[in-house]
Amino acid sequence: MSEQQFTPRVFSGIQPSGGLTLGNYLGAIKRFVDMQNEGSFETVYCMVDLHAITTWQDPKDLAHNTRELAAGFIASGISPEKSILINQSQVPEHAQLAWIFNCVARMGWMQRMTQFKDKAGKNAQNVSLGLFGYPALMAADILIYHATHVPVGDDQKQHLELTRDIAIKFNHDFGVDFFPVIEPVIEGAATRVMSLRDGTKKMSKSDPSDASRINMTDDADTIAKKIRKAKTDPDALPSEAAGLEDRPDARNLVNIWAALADISVDDVLKEVGGLQFGAFKPMLADLAVEKLAPIAGEMARLMADPAEIDRILAHGAGQAREITAPILAKTYEIVGMVK
Ligand code: TYM
Repeated sequence: MSEQQFTPRVFSGIQPSGGLTLGNYLGAIKRFVDMQNEGSFETVYCMVDLHAITTWQDPKDLAHNTRELAAGFIASGISPEKSILINQSQVPEHAQLAWIFNCVARMGWMQRMTQFKDKAGKNAQNVSLGLFGYPALMAADILIYHATHVPVGDDQKQHLELTRDIAIKFNHDFGVDFFPVIEPVIEGAATRVMSLRDGTKKMSKSDPSDASRINMTDDADTIAKKIRKAKTDPDALPSEAAGLEDRPDARNLVNIWAALADISVDDVLKEVGGLQFGAFKPMLADLAVEKLAPIAGEMARLMADPAEIDRILAHGAGQAREITAPILAKTYEIVGMVK
């Protein structure tokens, strides 16, 4: 661990690659709001458009999706007064530090990244170089703020380990104690929200079946319908968490309830243990509609005024650069670049 004292600072990001899901909301955004409101951290939240273009994005869609994601952040409770809200490409120090980290990270480290292997599939020779270097840019996103805490869903764990490795190697290679060794924050009932059609698969915006996920733009009827149709098993709900083992679909719905209501899985089961899914699902649908439909409504309202969203992002970029410019300048000095 690092000896230097760093300001407690949270950084996290989401790709504006279209369609925020309930997984993004429960695994990430809701936690971002909690950490913002807790008051013990400075918080920086980011639309990572440079990451999004590691796979093809239609330019018009990218601009729309970036604004929609900003609207999703704000509608969920991220306040531009309390947090710094930015679009990654508007803060050039992210990409500048990423280049330095491309020269610190090793090919072998990148080749071990399971997300790269999953995304590249059998096509590894034909994906972009950017997709391969993705985790070095992610490390730069975090470390250009000297962030100390990074809230994410479970699928980002390996990327955060690599961020730690990059900080340690940079500090070691240059004989400094400059970059913090971050703490991943992967907590709560919803670190891995699963598909509503298959409780063994992650809920994802790229799943071909729209019924597999709840989109943050879905209206009340659609949310309720998707939950009523969610895959389940024929047994009643157990009264303790241990009874959910080997029941991935049931466990997923109970986890979603716990995360939406901000209570533990045991507390959910105290309320609903013994019920059949026929009775449980309408209750869960009501809870989901109560929590999510107002966010969709607020997103639509914000999207009606894109100029206001752009103004908020420009302001955020200005605030961000007050932190990132001196950290980049110091990094260049450490590396030996002439000013
Ligand atoms: P992305 O855009 O895929 O997802 C954004 C966040 O949502 C979480 N998430 C989920 N959590 C629970 N259940 C799910 N089904 C689910 N699906 C997505 C992700 O874990 C993530 O926290 N590489 C990142 C973006 C990024 C980033 C960063 C994150 C770029 N730079 C720096 C943190 C710090 C990504 O692709 O997230």
